[in-house]
Amino acid sequence: MLRVDETKAPVDFTPELISKFDDIVSRYPAGKQKSALLPILHLVQEKFGWVSVPAMDIVAEYLEIQAIEVYEVATFYSMYLLRPQGKYLLEICRTGPCAIVGAEKLMDYVSQKLGVKEGEVTPDGLFSWRGVECLAACGYGPVLQIGPEYTFYENLTNDSIDKLIADLTSKSKN
Ligand code: FES
Repeated sequence: MLRVDETKAPVDFTPELISKFDDIVSRYPAGKQKSALLPILHLVQEKFGWVSVPAMDIVAEYLEIQAIEVYEVATFYSMYLLRPQGKYLLEICRTGPCAIVGAEKLMDYVSQKLGVKEGEVTPDGLFSWRGVECLAACGYGPVLQIGPEYTFYENLTNDSIDKLIADLTSKSKN
């Protein structure tokens, strides 16, 4: 997997973004601002598309906690993306029930179809993919989700992957 050049990570923490941080922190008792870390990281990801080390350092400074405390949380929860992703991140369930009905072959197919390995981004910036744990649709596997709305696609086949990628590519041009 390619390393990310963190020096080019976006860290434009606008007054509007800081104001949203303030609003979240105000929901917690004084001195307990660390409790706001998860929702603040969600806001960072929503704004920049991923959570970089420089961004985490700014969050740590804002919350007056150690940077390592932010790194620990961001690296523990898989919903935080620690590198840039394509416009469409295909998150494919790889847990047992989906594996039994072909999730691994499907991931191989997606990788081959897009021409990128897990975690990489297609040259047009549109797609990336990764394997994730159970998406709670075990009876409909193989399944994948695409955020941020977390749209589900179930009973996937190579043909339905072809159609999904074609539809998303077309949608992105309109
Ligand atoms: Fe794939 Fe549960 S195992 S959704």
